[in-house]
Amino acid sequence: MNAPTTALVTGGAGLIGSHIVDQALAAGWRVRVLDNLQRQTHRDGKPGWVPAAVDFVQGDVRNRRDWERALEGVDIVFHEAAYGGYMPEIAKFIDANGVGTALMLETIRDRSLPVRKVVVASSQAVYNEGAYRCPEHGRFYGTTRPIVQLERGEYDLRCPRCGTVSTPVPTDEEAPTGGENVYAISKMIQERLVLSWGRATGTPVVALRYSCTYGPRQSLFNPYTGVIAIFCTRLVNGLQPVVYEDGRQSRDLIYVEDVARANLLVAGDDRADGGVFNVGTGKAAAIGDLARLLGERLGKPIPPSLPGEYRPGEMRALISDTGRIAALGFAPRTSLSDGIDRYLAWIGEQGDIADYFGAAERLLRRRRVVKRAAS
Ligand SMILES: NC(=O)c1ccc[n+]([C@@H]2O[C@H](COP(=O)([O-])OP(=O)(O)OC[C@H]3O[C@@H](n4cnc5c(N)ncnc54)[C@H](O)[C@@H]3O)[C@@H](O)[C@H]2O)c1
Ligand SMILES: [Zn+2]
Repeated sequence: MNAPTTALVTGGAGLIGSHIVDQALAAGWRVRVLDNLQRQTHRDGKPGWVPAAVDFVQGDVRNRRDWERALEGVDIVFHEAAYGGYMPEIAKFIDANGVGTALMLETIRDRSLPVRKVVVASSQAVYNEGAYRCPEHGRFYGTTRPIVQLERGEYDLRCPRCGTVSTPVPTDEEAPTGGENVYAISKMIQERLVLSWGRATGTPVVALRYSCTYGPRQSLFNPYTGVIAIFCTRLVNGLQPVVYEDGRQSRDLIYVEDVARANLLVAGDDRADGGVFNVGTGKAAAIGDLARLLGERLGKPIPPSLPGEYRPGEMRALISDTGRIAALGFAPRTSLSDGIDRYLAWIGEQGDIADYFGAAERLLRRRRVVKRAAS
């Protein structure tokens, strides 16, 4: 009998990594985790959901020694550890997401480690904007909205040929990439490093561009976490969810277990090697509607506040075109409605949730990560 597969899950204490850990163990694999238990995400240290069966390495992806220890005897790497969100730092993003990934690749190469595949967590954030359709001129890829436009409170994307307000449509993997905020740029660097290293060394690699992921274990402490977690903690505390722009901006929200399943799927399918795949649902949710839906489900129908703020460089709409990963047999299983119910049930078990976000939001405003439209 063959020895069981050994997987390394970096960031395996976090939202997506921890669900990959569970599914890898369920598949009969040996699992090691490399996670520095970033304080902002794990206020109370190592979370209880890290299974005892895991070989837990508390270490940092920015430290070569930690990689040497973590990569020993590993067949497959799921690289999920990253610094995320709309934080004001610049160097830290490039350090954790860019240099951290470079150190992983160098360690595998320099020690001739027999790693069979690297699956890297990329993001829909690498796109500049979503794809749109003009009623007259058809489909086009949007470009980042200039700040002068946002300052006027004009949020919609317009057709570059006739100026008509256009409708978001699913965005495929061929859309222009680049990103306009530091997180996006750092994820782009990470993705490209892994893909080009794979081509150069012949090691199978896969980049998964996740859309907005939510579900149990999404940090309630990190003020820069996902939108569902932020709205829920506000609502639970009787506070209005703060919605940017006009609330009609939209995102593709995918349940975390589905994202984890996509990872296991590409790990076991050679057809994925060398590829980039969107991982989403193909469905759009307007952020204002989401805030209202969460209020209703929580029994706190507090209307969202819309102070006319925006974040420079943020996309207006992003719906994943999931055709490419669907061709490998992937389909999300959890609807937004069911996923929210499961997430809220989990929140209900987490005891008192204070408003961790007020102070952080004030800080972001001071540093002008969040801006207010003039109108
Ligand atoms: N959650 C989303 O909506 C989303 C969307 C697109 C892409 N992603 C990507 O998916 C991956 C996982 O995200 P998540 O939502 O599970 O985030 P998370 O914050 O829940 O988990 C990240 C984990 O990485 C660890 N970590 C952070 N910096 C580290 C470092 N320097 N060294 C070692 N460990 C470190 C943290 O302690 C945490 O446990 C990230 O690469 C992220 O960029 C997430
Ligand atoms: Zn047009």
